[in-house]
Amino acid sequence: MDNFFGVPVFKENSEGSQQFLEVFHSNELDTQKIASAIEENKLVLIRSMSFDKASKLFSTLVDRYELRMSYDIQMQFVAHMMEGREAIDDVAVTVNKREPFEIIQPHAEGDSTSPLDLFGLYCTQNSNTGGENILSLINQSADHSALRAKEKVVVGDNLSEDTINKLKMGHLDANTFSTNSQDGDVVLKEYLNGKVVVRANSIEPAKSPITGENLYTHWDNVTVHDDAFHRYQFELLRHLKILNEEKGLNYKDYIHMEPDSDWGPVDTDSGDLQQTANLYSAHVLYKMNANDILIFNNRVWTHSVNNWPRNDKRELSAMYA
Ligand SMILES: [Fe+2]
Repeated sequence: MDNFFGVPVFKENSEGSQQFLEVFHSNELDTQKIASAIEENKLVLIRSMSFDKASKLFSTLVDRYELRMSYDIQMQFVAHMMEGREAIDDVAVTVNKREPFEIIQPHAEGDSTSPLDLFGLYCTQNSNTGGENILSLINQSADHSALRAKEKVVVGDNLSEDTINKLKMGHLDANTFSTNSQDGDVVLKEYLNGKVVVRANSIEPAKSPITGENLYTHWDNVTVHDDAFHRYQFELLRHLKILNEEKGLNYKDYIHMEPDSDWGPVDTDSGDLQQTANLYSAHVLYKMNANDILIFNNRVWTHSVNNWPRNDKRELSAMYA
């Protein structure tokens, strides 16, 4: 078994991988066993499953964890508002488009002000070269004090309800209020005596409805602006000798940022490779095959992906709630 800065890197058949990854075949589907594995904070991999069957299973799990409202809103409404995604039959979404050779840093789907709990990734076709996913289990006893969540905050004193409503138009995820501006606030919108800003806050653990545990989660608004996670992903892929190196050896050339993201630019840095490694208990490297679905608790596992060569085709879809 490989390791990177002390974090074990499991492959599907590595000794001990069963502790983190449970594999099922769609012929022997047992929803209870699948749910138990998810609740034990394992990754669930199911092979040879049609998209239709996979989305029905995901839907059953959504109801089990009482996430129906979140699932339907995400798949049927939010997906239509996102630049990089398209809805698929109101049960899944396309994964974000990216430029050739971009890699995706570890992140949990969603952000700290709109948290998501259950995540599924379905593979229709993987690239011939590259396209490996790395799933990373967050070390809950690690020191998370260097991490920051960029969040939208409504700033102002004695704001009228009308002013708040006007400010929140287009910024419904601005859920917290503050009377004063702070150093580092980035103003997104101003109206009368108020504004909406992006502020980098420290991160707090929050309760997972799947396990009831209080968990630290590396949301996209925690990692996408943080050099440490891009650097770490790049060096881990190089260490594993799977990175497609067309753009040279500067990790900054491989960064993907959604054009409509409020969390850019990459302007924070939470630590060196060892400090980032300390945030993880294990990595699982897996290259998905057609008709595979991976399902897991989004609050405790991050997902990330390797790049692939130009002209190679990779088609995945995501389900989340
Ligand atoms: Fe993602």
